[in-house]
Amino acid sequence: MDVFLKDDQVATRNLTPGISVYGEELIEEEAEYRIWNPRRSKLAAAILNGLNNLRIENDSKVLYLGASTGTTVSHISDIAYEGKVYAVEFSPVTAKKLTRLSRQRPNIYPILGDATKPKEYMNLVEKVDLLYCDVAQPTQTNLFMRNMNMFAKDDALGILMIKARSIDVVQKPKKIFKQEEKKLKEKGFKIIEKVKLEPYEKDHISFLIEKNF
Ligand SMILES: C[S@@+](CC[C@H](N)C(=O)[O-])C[C@H]1O[C@@H](n2cnc3c(N)ncnc32)[C@H](O)[C@@H]1O
Repeated sequence: MDVFLKDDQVATRNLTPGISVYGEELIEEEAEYRIWNPRRSKLAAAILNGLNNLRIENDSKVLYLGASTGTTVSHISDIAYEGKVYAVEFSPVTAKKLTRLSRQRPNIYPILGDATKPKEYMNLVEKVDLLYCDVAQPTQTNLFMRNMNMFAKDDALGILMIKARSIDVVQKPKKIFKQEEKKLKEKGFKIIEKVKLEPYEKDHISFLIEKNF
């Protein structure tokens, strides 16, 4: 996975040199890199907090649920520069910005769609190596599993970003994380790494998951 890690910074090699996507700093090393802001992207926060079994190859196929305007998507598009990033977003206004980004980055395939209804985009998406889910919805573990079952290759990995307060504002985050973990295990998914996102995001955890069936 081609990411640049130094001190407390992570960066990806810029697929579109000279262009910054969300105001991030561009730096020159042996090529141009984009600083990956952990306060804007939970995946950067997880990597800086020690996530180390994630594999994204230069030709990986990725399905990204909850793409928003493409902050994290853009860094995955840097890493999987010969691959494809299918980016699903259900807000039309937000998806428009994502479409603009995809004009600069041909490996991003924006999809205006609802991740709770994967059948709606099944003809647009192939089997993927990584399924990334960050929709911040109460039912997101269930929709993550449904999408994994439909689109993940047998050896694929999944990333599920959990924000405790999106699931329940009253319960303790620790209890919510356990409850979501149980749902995954009961359906045969294996959590291979758990990384909390503090100090960048409060009461969030990232699960790195593989199919175990
Ligand atoms: C926390 S933001 C994602 C931030 C993004 N992952 C990033 O790092 O740049 C959650 C996004 O998920 C979208 N979303 C929520 N529910 C969704 C659904 N059912 N299907 C698709 N997108 C959804 C929201 O519109 C929002 O843009």
